Amino acid sequence: MSKIKIFPDPIIDYDFENVYRPADDTYLIIDYFKVHIDSDFFDGIPLETIRNILDMGTGTGYIALSLQIMKAKIPKFNPNIYASDILEEAIHLSKHNEKLNNFEREITFINSDLFNSFPITLKHSFDVIVFNPPYLPSFNMMQKDGNKKNIDYSWNGGELGFETFLRFLSEARSYLNFNSNSRIYYVCSSRINLNLLNDLISQKGYERTYLNKIHVFLEDIYLYRLELKCN
Ligand SMILES: C[S@@+](CC[C@H](N)C(=O)[O-])C[C@H]1O[C@@H](n2cnc3c(N)ncnc32)[C@H](O)[C@@H]1O
Repeated sequence: MSKIKIFPDPIIDYDFENVYRPADDTYLIIDYFKVHIDSDFFDGIPLETIRNILDMGTGTGYIALSLQIMKAKIPKFNPNIYASDILEEAIHLSKHNEKLNNFEREITFINSDLFNSFPITLKHSFDVIVFNPPYLPSFNMMQKDGNKKNIDYSWNGGELGFETFLRFLSEARSYLNFNSNSRIYYVCSSRINLNLLNDLISQKGYERTYLNKIHVFLEDIYLYRLELKCN
């Protein structure tokens, strides 16, 4: 096993009003991958066993593109990379960013509300799913007219802050590979009821591993890995 010395960051155009700009939560995920992906293993899993990776809620495409760059640098790392978002603008922008990084048509983009528009052929196909979800509660920032604007999809996770994420977890079960190594990486904030979220995650049959955290202004942002519990 040898460490890869440099994974360059993708070049990102993010000047789109409604698309989330890569931020501390995005970098928390990628910085973890930079340390835990080497010439043989993806965070402990042999690289050859990872065939499909999904960046759910891709925004500018930053996470998918970072993984694509790692793929280009590591001979044994050869997964198909997928990126999806509920916003058409995000898909448009991430395709543009893919070109900026000279990866034309390498990533498969899907415009979808979570897994709703995914082809059935992708069921039980993903070894790794990464989701930097909208994770803040909507109650104190609701639009006065009650309508959700496009940029709200970046942060508004529902009344408690994690309804979108819980819906994702229910649907993700049938898109994760049956392979016992398949996993989900996600971030969440100290501004929600983490005890309740953790109980609900466990009730949904996932086992959680804490990976890292950062402190940003008034909140801590946590990075976790989930695996399906063995029955
Ligand atoms: C916090 S942003 C993260 C963007 C990007 N992955 C990053 O880390 O910079 C959350 C992303 O999830 C997308 N999103 C929100 N709800 C979604 C849903 N129901 N289905 C798919 N994507 C969704 C948003 O449009 C947004 O791009």
